[in-house]
Amino acid sequence: MTPNPPWQEAVGELKSRLARSRKLTVVTGAGISAASGVPTFRGEGGLWRQYRATDLATPEAFRQDPQLVWEFYAWRRELVSQCHPNPAHLAVAAWSRRQPEFTCITQNVDGLHEAAGTRNVVRFHGSLWEMQCAEACRDAPSSWEDRREPLPEMPPRCPYCRGLLRPGVVWFGEAIPSAALQAAQQAVLCDLMVVIGTASQVYPAASLVDAAATHGAYTVEINAETTPATSRVNLALTGPAEQILADL
Ligand code: OAD
Repeated sequence: MTPNPPWQEAVGELKSRLARSRKLTVVTGAGISAASGVPTFRGEGGLWRQYRATDLATPEAFRQDPQLVWEFYAWRRELVSQCHPNPAHLAVAAWSRRQPEFTCITQNVDGLHEAAGTRNVVRFHGSLWEMQCAEACRDAPSSWEDRREPLPEMPPRCPYCRGLLRPGVVWFGEAIPSAALQAAQQAVLCDLMVVIGTASQVYPAASLVDAAATHGAYTVEINAETTPATSRVNLALTGPAEQILADL
């Protein structure tokens, strides 16, 4: 006989909290996409082990070597274009349709929540599929979607001014888009917050769970490992999100 998974009892508690919730906010990180084949940043085989993303995901790196930074993002676009939502994304999408009020704040730039059909996704760190003119030229919109894979030129150039394009993601040291910040300020005023697959190390995203708790929300973490947030939440489910959420 197979023993029950360690999170089974806690899943029951989460289920009953979901049934009672009027305003649910979900915060996600790279771990929710791990089962889809998208490498996480800090875990086993994380991107940063191979690429020192701290050297690449910065405005300084882009100024110094745009070709290298674009090769890194082109590689990620190619990889993610072959990935599909997993049962964890699908569970969140189902919540987004069922719960009276719902927000999904994601740090992920892969677009898999949207592909799963999740309503009201707030992209905290931008999107791999968005482009911006690196010179912020007058004629270009502030950002636009370009899903062409592979990109027709490397590094890609602005169709308006022929200057360099940059990926529409938030780099280290850059501000979170103000619309996303504002949406998050509203979303933390929830009665239930579920934080899934984030190492809870990058701010301000890592502070959302504390803001929700301060407001009186019941807080839940679902993560394969313990994180700095584990001891601060009301309920911690330690295990793979795609299995735990499939159990729901
Ligand atoms: P990390 O790679 O730092 O953390 C991934 C988390 O997911 C870890 O805590 C893992 O334990 C957990 N995890 C891995 N597989 C899992 C699974 N199957 N189920 C549940 N949990 C799993 O990713 P983030 O916390 O998202 O920002 O990183 C935050 C930000 O740091 C990223 O958005 C990126 C990076 O710098 C920018 O680039 C601005």
